[in-house]
Amino acid sequence: MLKSWYPRILVPSMILLFQAVTWYLYTPYSVDIYQKTNNTHTQRNKTQAKSLLDNIDEYLNKQKINTSVIGGDVLSAGRQSNDLVLDSKNKLKIYMYNVRQLRLQGHLHNLNMSKCAYSNCEVLLVPYITDEPVGADALLFQANVMHPVFPRRRSPSQVFVFLNNEPPLYVHAKESVNAFSKPYLFNWTITYRKDSDIWMPYGHIIHRYQSKAKFLEKLESGTCDRIPEVASTVEVFQDKPYNEIFKNKTEHILWIVSHCKTQSKREKYVKEMQKFTKVDIFGACSGKKPPHAEEKNRVDMQYKFYLAFENSLCTDYITEKVYKWYPQDIIVVVRGKAKYSKFLPNNTYINADDFNSPRALSEYLNELGSNEEAYTGFLKRKDLYHVVTEIESVQTAFCSLCRKLNNVEFNRKTIENVTQWWYETDNKSNTNEEINVNSHHK
Ligand SMILES: *[C@@H]1O[C@H](CO)[C@@H](O)[C@H](O)[C@H]1NC(C)=O
Ligand SMILES: *[C@@H]1O[C@H](CO)[C@@H](O)[C@H](O)[C@H]1NC(C)=O
Ligand SMILES: *[C@@H]1O[C@H](CO)[C@@H](O)[C@H](O)[C@H]1NC(C)=O
Ligand SMILES: *[C@@H]1O[C@H](CO)[C@@H](O)[C@H](O)[C@H]1NC(C)=O
Ligand SMILES: *[C@@H]1O[C@H](CO)[C@@H](O)[C@H](O)[C@H]1NC(C)=O
Ligand SMILES: *[C@@H]1O[C@H](CO)[C@@H](O)[C@H](O)[C@H]1NC(C)=O
Ligand SMILES: *[C@@H]1O[C@H](CO)[C@@H](O)[C@H](O)[C@H]1NC(C)=O
Ligand SMILES: *[C@@H]1O[C@H](CO)[C@@H](O)[C@H](O)[C@H]1NC(C)=O
Ligand SMILES: *[C@@H]1O[C@H](CO)[C@@H](O)[C@H](O)[C@H]1NC(C)=O
Repeated sequence: MLKSWYPRILVPSMILLFQAVTWYLYTPYSVDIYQKTNNTHTQRNKTQAKSLLDNIDEYLNKQKINTSVIGGDVLSAGRQSNDLVLDSKNKLKIYMYNVRQLRLQGHLHNLNMSKCAYSNCEVLLVPYITDEPVGADALLFQANVMHPVFPRRRSPSQVFVFLNNEPPLYVHAKESVNAFSKPYLFNWTITYRKDSDIWMPYGHIIHRYQSKAKFLEKLESGTCDRIPEVASTVEVFQDKPYNEIFKNKTEHILWIVSHCKTQSKREKYVKEMQKFTKVDIFGACSGKKPPHAEEKNRVDMQYKFYLAFENSLCTDYITEKVYKWYPQDIIVVVRGKAKYSKFLPNNTYINADDFNSPRALSEYLNELGSNEEAYTGFLKRKDLYHVVTEIESVQTAFCSLCRKLNNVEFNRKTIENVTQWWYETDNKSNTNEEINVNSHHK
């Protein structure tokens, strides 16, 4: 019976699609699987599903396609295989409204939706907005600058998406909060928070032995959502002159900052540190021009530590500062509200939160900075990993979005109160409360 499904797979008009809800790599087997033929979905029981998947894996393996797609909504090797053709005649449109942030704008301009497993989506950046219904399949709003007027929903299959890469309480204008607070407005969320419908972090750390392309594919399908387990037998060491790198470091702590007064009170924290150690501050807050790009490497090589302190203490909020500096030959010191050990490998970075005070942290950095073996140990462990960059993460998030849109029936969802999710379930520090920089901020 199963064998007889092979020819069906080979018939392009009969697309096999499977829905695998909450089937993650490291969580117990629990899955709903549907078979899609001629646009009708039939639910399959576990036994059927398992043999179906096993056989498809075998088939794909024969074609030298390694999908490992076990957590996504659909089993398909789309773009790699000419046999499994997705219904790509059906172009789907994604409208992204009001992207003011230049960095994100740049990333969106660089999107290549043909790279996705589902390659039939097209993203348009829309600079104007009215309340007229539009023909897009998905409407995305940059929530922190959301316009009070937005298009009326054209049909129940049109998806409204809350997208945000800025933390709560930080840049939300009142009119923006009022706009996105409309109940039942959104269907999905795309943010840096892990519990978003689509996770779009500022970066991601992976083992160097892993292929980035494969990893991103898994991420796109929702399979891979955490630092993969350490495979103790596979480690890719870097061949670097660590002693020389250490000897060349004549400077101590570097901080480049342009946002001077912050919710996290990092400026106070650093000021306190400066009583016990040397911190060189560049950027708008110090009046010292930040090092130019071409000088950046030199700066990396001179300094022992880089302060990647977040401006807001919010759940999962780890910004590009960390991911940009992490691959350099410098130790990143983080401070934020994210559970960093979920995102970064242990003993490859320093977390201010592990110290009782700015003084304790400073003293530790002084000590570590003068111990070559301990210091280079951090660099060596860090070099076992590489970084998925922000731009790659945005690309992956939009591929996931396209995948979901192609399976919109399985992803039908309404968020009753996005404001509640965004504000109340965030374990942020309360801004009204003085953040005591002299103690643990938990
Ligand atoms: C799907 O449609 C094709 C062509 O219309 C038809 O030949 C085939 O029998 C259909 N398959 C099923 C399972 O209904
Ligand atoms: C799944 O479906 C098959 C075929 O319809 C049936 O023989 C089998 O008993 C079912 N298994 C379970 C666990 O329901
Ligand atoms: C595909 O990937 C899985 C998981 O990474 C691995 O176990 C399997 O051996 C791979 N298969 C091929 C053919 O590369
Ligand atoms: C986009 O991706 C496709 C598929 O990988 C590739 O063929 C094409 O050259 C890419 N386009 C650009 C502009 O990079
Ligand atoms: C260390 O500094 C010297 C002198 O500037 C330079 O030639 C050398 O390449 C540096 N070594 C490393 C590993 O960066
Ligand atoms: C990293 O450290 C934290 C805190 O000490 C611990 O809970 C976690 O299990 C460690 N993770 C790994 C992968 O060792
Ligand atoms: C999106 O949300 C609206 C409003 O609650 C709902 O009517 C619609 O069915 C949802 N659509 C999808 C595809 O989830
Ligand atoms: C949504 O949640 C916010 C914050 O918890 C609350 O103030 C507001 O009243 C809620 N809106 C509705 C319509 O329930
Ligand atoms: C916030 O903290 C509570 C209690 O520690 C925890 O149950 C909840 O999952 C956390 N929420 C998020 C979004 O991390």
